[in-house]
Amino acid sequence: MENRESWNLHWHFTEGFSEDMLIEGFFDGAPEIHLPHTVKELPYNYFSHEATAMISTYERSFCLSDEELLKRSVVEFEGVMAYFDLYINGKYAGSHKGGYSRAYMEITSFVKSGKNTMIVVVDSHERDDIPPFGFVIDYLTYGGIYRDVSFYSLESAYIANLFFRYDIERDTINSYPEFVIDNNGAPFKGTLCYSLSNSDGNIIHTESQTFDIRSGKSTIVMAKHQLEGLKLWDVDKPILYDVHAWITDDKNELDSHDVRVGFRITECRPDGFYLNGKYTKIVGMNRHQSYPYIGYAMGRRAQQADADILKEYNFNGVRTSHYMQSRYFLDRCDELGILVFEEIPGWGHLGGDEFKKVVLQDVKSMIETDFNHPSIFMWGVRLNESGDDDELYTKTNMIAHRFDPSRSTGGVRYMQGSSFLEDVYTYNDFCHADDPGLDNVQLDQRQVTRLDRDVPYMVTEYMGHTFPTKPFDNEKKRDEHARRHARILARTLLRRDSLGSFGWCAFDYNTHGDCGSGDKICYHGIFDMFRIPKYAAWVYRSQKPTSEEIILQPLTNFARGEKDLNGITPFLVATNCDYIEVFMYGRSVGYYYPSDKFFGLPHPLIEVTFDDSTMWNIPWQDGKVIGYINGEPVAEYCYARDAYLQRMNVKQETDVLSTAEVDTCRFEVKLVDQYSNPCEYINTVFHFVTEGDLELIGPEYTAPIGGHIAFWVKSVPTNLANVCQAFFKRIKE
Ligand code: GAL
Repeated sequence: MENRESWNLHWHFTEGFSEDMLIEGFFDGAPEIHLPHTVKELPYNYFSHEATAMISTYERSFCLSDEELLKRSVVEFEGVMAYFDLYINGKYAGSHKGGYSRAYMEITSFVKSGKNTMIVVVDSHERDDIPPFGFVIDYLTYGGIYRDVSFYSLESAYIANLFFRYDIERDTINSYPEFVIDNNGAPFKGTLCYSLSNSDGNIIHTESQTFDIRSGKSTIVMAKHQLEGLKLWDVDKPILYDVHAWITDDKNELDSHDVRVGFRITECRPDGFYLNGKYTKIVGMNRHQSYPYIGYAMGRRAQQADADILKEYNFNGVRTSHYMQSRYFLDRCDELGILVFEEIPGWGHLGGDEFKKVVLQDVKSMIETDFNHPSIFMWGVRLNESGDDDELYTKTNMIAHRFDPSRSTGGVRYMQGSSFLEDVYTYNDFCHADDPGLDNVQLDQRQVTRLDRDVPYMVTEYMGHTFPTKPFDNEKKRDEHARRHARILARTLLRRDSLGSFGWCAFDYNTHGDCGSGDKICYHGIFDMFRIPKYAAWVYRSQKPTSEEIILQPLTNFARGEKDLNGITPFLVATNCDYIEVFMYGRSVGYYYPSDKFFGLPHPLIEVTFDDSTMWNIPWQDGKVIGYINGEPVAEYCYARDAYLQRMNVKQETDVLSTAEVDTCRFEVKLVDQYSNPCEYINTVFHFVTEGDLELIGPEYTAPIGGHIAFWVKSVPTNLANVCQAFFKRIKE
């Protein structure tokens, strides 16, 4: 299905629905909105978790030429929370259940030449026939058409999907792509072709084979053929190839279809994860796809940026908790070499028959949509932390294996000794809640599985609710948050009976009143909702090899009255330097080395301890930490005795925004002292103002949180056809 025409722009929206909205012209003159869209912008916290639960109506008109009328018309919805009915020119044209799955709606028999009207009636209530709803859930799901909508004008036969299947034996890659052809015409002889190009655009392989194309939907697998000269995809060198596929009858090309692929061997074994035969420990985070104020309604650039952050902080894995996520995020994981565990929507609860029908549909849809991403190594086919249901989960596993024999299945549980129907026993291990000591931070797999043999095993959550930590908590709390992450990471890296671990979680997120800190936020992230790192994030980033980046990040605000009894130490330094030298009271107080409390990390945290109990009446001085590699000083970090607010540092994501889409730019604003350290406890207000074709996402007035804040501005699309450039001014301070 090529020639995707974006239908993201020029919609109308209203809360509620009534029959007269189906009458043509009802929305004429109403203000326009653009996708991605949320049914209601929310405050940062303290709002009702029912604020987005509503029926709402979206309208868009479109024109079709006489020529297009002879073709098939298909509309693609990538994500609508949580249910919708579609009407074309006043007539009901279909519906879709599930807020995270893609829907293709054929509207050929409803369209006319000239102007047409499309109405989408969206139900964003937490309906108990749709997973994850029906009981309590620890996250918000918002509402609206929050991902892209596209239109396709197609011949009577087109390529509905392409699973670029292959296997690798020794060094040989054998491919047998599977085409899904939708043909509403008579049977015909068709030729299926594809070309495979590298990132320079050079074609490396072409293939064409002829088949009898039946009427209706059929699946056609090309005969196996060898691909030569290809390089494998892996986490360090994520090499990708572009596949351009097309179908012809005896005269014409009927349709084409592009996918991006990468070739790799993933093996989940009892002794760990192997990527292309190489033992690889997966170090990842869980990611919710929500953002402040607009929930899920964030487009391309912000989705990509989340993957960039994970890479920057040295993660090679992510779990898309607890649902299928944006193609922009997954594409970026492909590009960066981040291993993805993608799962179906669910949270703790199993509903009735209709609910379970949607579960099965979700498994199929997840694989049909995301099959070609090389980054995905495992499908999650249980609803997160639901009880055993062997009948249902035998089916979800069967579907996953039928559509994709090449990948393992997992299914996340909180239970020990639960029915093991998947390939990997995936378990949320919070045993460290009671004992944060070094030895007991993760259970051995047999304690969990209660099996008498080792099986492929993975920890899919740790930390989270066991130690919620706010960016403005006191230093001691944030320090302990980092210590616990470090101990669990060390254990993850040391053990040989697991594929790895995913921490809970990357980013703080909005949640229901049943969970979180009572303000509708779960402060479980190693980053806050604005994607600003807490101390714990530095634990991971400092494990990078120094060839990539030298890190020297003291985890302290270096103030004499912050901790109980005025002690500065102990404090931690996250660094990949060999050792550090610390200056306090105007002199060097010694050299400090990686602490054996964090044995197992490539770069254990350094703990600075110094008995300063007798120093209280000595004047405090500027402080300094120097990092050394091979005996040479390579990095320096300074602190002020007399810290005062000196300036605002602003980090701007991009200088250029597209006005052909709703593009976003993130600004990170930090109030800092004379050494650029954040004024963490500052209490003030920002006023953000935009000019030109830009809109602020969220409130105009806002306060920093932990000395920082970030905000996003979005472009207001002005022109459908061109990618214009909107240069915008720096924010007013
Ligand atoms: C888990 C759950 C997550 C999150 C986490 C908090 O049990 O799967 O969604 O709620 O707890 O620690």
